[in-house]
Amino acid sequence: MTIRGEESEPNEFGYRSFFLGQFQFSRDEYFAYINWPTGRHVMSVDAFLRALQRDVAWEFFYGIVNFDGVVGTMNHYGTVDLFAGRYNDAYRKAELDHVENIQTPVIKAAFAAMLSDWTNEGFDPFASPQETGSAFGIKHGDNDAAISRHRVTAQRMVSLPGDEPLRSDDNGHPINRMFADVGQDEPEVYAEPGFEAEIGSFNLFAYLSRSPVTWNPSVVSVCRESLYCPTTEEYILPIIHGNDRAEWFVQLSDEIIWDVEDRDTGRKRAKVVMKAGDVAAMPSDIRHQGYSPKRSMLLVWENASSKVPELISTGRFPTQPVEF
Ligand code: PHB
Ligand code: FE
Repeated sequence: MTIRGEESEPNEFGYRSFFLGQFQFSRDEYFAYINWPTGRHVMSVDAFLRALQRDVAWEFFYGIVNFDGVVGTMNHYGTVDLFAGRYNDAYRKAELDHVENIQTPVIKAAFAAMLSDWTNEGFDPFASPQETGSAFGIKHGDNDAAISRHRVTAQRMVSLPGDEPLRSDDNGHPINRMFADVGQDEPEVYAEPGFEAEIGSFNLFAYLSRSPVTWNPSVVSVCRESLYCPTTEEYILPIIHGNDRAEWFVQLSDEIIWDVEDRDTGRKRAKVVMKAGDVAAMPSDIRHQGYSPKRSMLLVWENASSKVPELISTGRFPTQPVEF
């Protein structure tokens, strides 16, 4: 069966409803409602839009993006499972879970249309709660400029010729209020003549201090399959991420508290408090959500190889990258 995305005329609050297979999404002033044949779910619409924003901008990311403990997506890199209760022990046991497998362009277009229709003027789902207006109320305007921004991806290491200019006051990237104390001096590089285009260096802390978004890793260096994705974090990671590969975290500043659960059932596994300088390897059989009480800097280190998920799911790779 081919699944098409469809949408309704605006409801009494001014918002359209969206249909994907047997899923229906609708919103009112405060909530997003998700219905499927064996169940119905409700989420606060600000949390829903923050999760939806990341799922769209990250092209469904690695593995599973749980919007909360019930609804989310699983990336099969070409198709996407849209699910309710699939990774929730209670829903599974009661047989109330539901999954639709959808071609990536179809679900992406539907999610992008929903994000655009449901985001009001002044609400930025990428911004921290203290740096954005409200998501609530009857429909008023839009914020397409904010929701269509993409993760910054380096073509080479940041600072090398041919890449994006470094963030500065001059190109519209002021230092964030919480990083006012971060030094802005840049390293000095003296390259051998002829090697000027191949050796680069920059102040990563200064670069991150100017990020206007939260919980949105930007790929700043690519070395074969190794991606360095630093990000600035404040308040709560809007998704519960169930990875399909191990993932390393290096806490560059301040503190993040991680809730770690079993990836398939949601059973609680660990509480990890990471302080500046701490390094953690998150195994591939968990899901996690971070809490950052103050804006902090985090380096997420991913192995982008498309072979890794299958090696893990067939048991040829361990779920944790290191044994102590
Ligand atoms: C993660 O799921 O590992 C993740 C996602 C976004 C971030 C940080 C970590 O900003
Ligand atoms: Fe993750």
